Amino acid sequence: MPVITHAPDTGIWLLSTPRTSYALRIDVTGAPCHIAWGPRLTLEEAAELAVPPQPEASSFEGRPPVGEELPVDGGARFGPPSLQVRFPDGTRAFEWQPVGHEVEEAAPGVSELALRFRDRVHPLEVTLRYRVHDDSDVIERRTVLRNAGDRHLTVLRADSAAWSLPPLPDYRLSHVTGQWSAESRLHRDRLPHGETVLTSRRGITSHHANPWVMLDAGDATETHGRVWSAALAWSGSWRITTQRTPDGRAGVTGGAGHDGTSVPLAPGEEFTTPVFAGLYSDDGFGAASRTWHEYALAHVLPHPREIAPVLYNSWEATGFDVDEPGQTALAVRAAALGVELYVVDDGWFGARRDDRAGLGDWTPAADRFPSGLRPLSDEVHRLGMRFGLWVEPEMVNPDSDLYREHPDWVLHVPGRARTELRNQLVLNFARQDVADWAYGWLTRLVADNGVDFLKWDMNRAFSEAGWPGREDGADRLWTDYVHNLYGVIDRLRADHPRLRIESCSGGGGRVDLGILSRTDQAWTSDNTDAADRVSIQHGYGQLYPARTMAAWVTDVPNQLTHRQVPLRFRFHVAMAGVLGIGGDLTRWSEEELATGAELVAEYKRVRHLVQHGALHRLRGPEEEGPAVVEYAAQDGSEALVLAWQLVHRHGGPRGPVRLGGLTPGAHYRDTRTGTVHHAAVLAGYGLTLDLPSGDWASAAVHLVRVPARDDA
Ligand code: GLA
Repeated sequence: MPVITHAPDTGIWLLSTPRTSYALRIDVTGAPCHIAWGPRLTLEEAAELAVPPQPEASSFEGRPPVGEELPVDGGARFGPPSLQVRFPDGTRAFEWQPVGHEVEEAAPGVSELALRFRDRVHPLEVTLRYRVHDDSDVIERRTVLRNAGDRHLTVLRADSAAWSLPPLPDYRLSHVTGQWSAESRLHRDRLPHGETVLTSRRGITSHHANPWVMLDAGDATETHGRVWSAALAWSGSWRITTQRTPDGRAGVTGGAGHDGTSVPLAPGEEFTTPVFAGLYSDDGFGAASRTWHEYALAHVLPHPREIAPVLYNSWEATGFDVDEPGQTALAVRAAALGVELYVVDDGWFGARRDDRAGLGDWTPAADRFPSGLRPLSDEVHRLGMRFGLWVEPEMVNPDSDLYREHPDWVLHVPGRARTELRNQLVLNFARQDVADWAYGWLTRLVADNGVDFLKWDMNRAFSEAGWPGREDGADRLWTDYVHNLYGVIDRLRADHPRLRIESCSGGGGRVDLGILSRTDQAWTSDNTDAADRVSIQHGYGQLYPARTMAAWVTDVPNQLTHRQVPLRFRFHVAMAGVLGIGGDLTRWSEEELATGAELVAEYKRVRHLVQHGALHRLRGPEEEGPAVVEYAAQDGSEALVLAWQLVHRHGGPRGPVRLGGLTPGAHYRDTRTGTVHHAAVLAGYGLTLDLPSGDWASAAVHLVRVPARDDA
């Protein structure tokens, strides 16, 4: 059945996904209006929902602020505009004039609807694009603007899309906030009336908020209830505004850029917004998350089918104290543990002995790597591992040869102080010469040193975001920076198809569907405390799949929290993502090394479930009792249950947890104990977790479906 259909008599467009429908039409004024987003509908059924707009209730009302596909500035509209363009005559009103539409197959299994409009007065063209994949409930939306005139325009706001929810008795908003080393704290609060703005003004996605929302009526659970969700694929500043109106409606508008930034649009120039994708789910937050994960794995990540290797990273072990003998010693031990990718972190280049100097001078430090990086890279490869390197291409320390040579390459405003954060300044990646310079040294670095993996870091927010010498620079840089960043990564990937990249920004400051479409995983947080990680990973996994969630086992007491938790617990937490090791292996005891090797081997046996299975959050970290997650094979053949008892309370709940994703009627064997369970019991009554009493008890239970002939 075609996934995008149109009824010329009613004017309705119907987008059908496997389990949901989305309907819209162009109203009598020419404006694109929302009809429905929810369970599957036919065109005929959608027509029943396309009620004509109610007349304004008073002279103080205009068009309802929720219910348009992209509310513009113009006419009797008083909500937050999703589209606001300043024309040469100083006006900012847009009037929709439809000029055509098309539906095309953008790729096999991908259909796209383009609705084309222009302003009734000025030569501005606006196209609304909707993309539907035949295997996903996620609908991708974006807006394309084109200046068809011969005068300059200024785009004050161009959201990718506005999403409208049906009238519900109440609304609740789920989202994450955080800060450095405390990312992805999940909040699930009643949606306030009025406008709720989630935003980043930092030039990066940010630790402080992440560009996604989930909305429900306040009654959804992990396994039940209707959930609407939207996520922005953009790695710079952004703004998502959720609105709850007095007449009981709610909607979300979102796009690149924060308040006060704008995009100049020269004659003939086109501006395409990032994708603001959305999904509806009938089955609670768990199903909404799984739909996002499946979408990311099928349509976002560059190499979705790959299994991510177990990595070692030296940062917590050595800090900046990086040299060839020290790294070789760690690499030998890492290889013995079963590590598959060895990553050298900060400190290998220039005069970088601490965070005060050297950033920008990307040549191996001669005193630490006298023959360059090649001998270490060769040794790592000889040990059977891939070789990875930390880089921070967008940054410079003022105490560096690069800055001395190019002081004008940084974001700055002449005559004002250049604020240093972590003793560094931001290179203006919006400048093509800066982007080309970065691409040049990166591609040589990768080629000359057999680099298989880059940890691409970005360790401070923008400030004094000026671009001297370019009149429209201060406006333009917010988007051009991100486009050029994407461009450098894309060129590198094209040059080196086997190169894999981790997105890092002081931990999880740049995690979004935009960066994940060109990197392979993300460094979730600089906080590696296993107890804190349970919550951070809980928030991260609401949107992003475990396949992208890098998680290290580090030493205790933890560098940040000073907490002591057992090695097994630390492993069990890190095994919920892409496992890595970040401890000082030269100081691990024989017993620790043996336990580590055993758990790395165990992870390798189950990681296909973690990285490609379906996540079921069985008990959250905020609930009493151990937090429990399950990763079930998509075909129901296996499942992994990970349980973490954070703080043990005598007499606290220890009840069984009901598993998801199993094959009805099948039996499952616990690979450790040999116990065979009925799927009906595991799914309907639950698995009893045999956790020992005491803090920091943890378990990894691997269940494998017993072949049918043994089922009897
Ligand atoms: C950031 C990263 C860390 C580490 C340091 C190095 O903080 O998130 O993992 O790479 O930079 O300076």
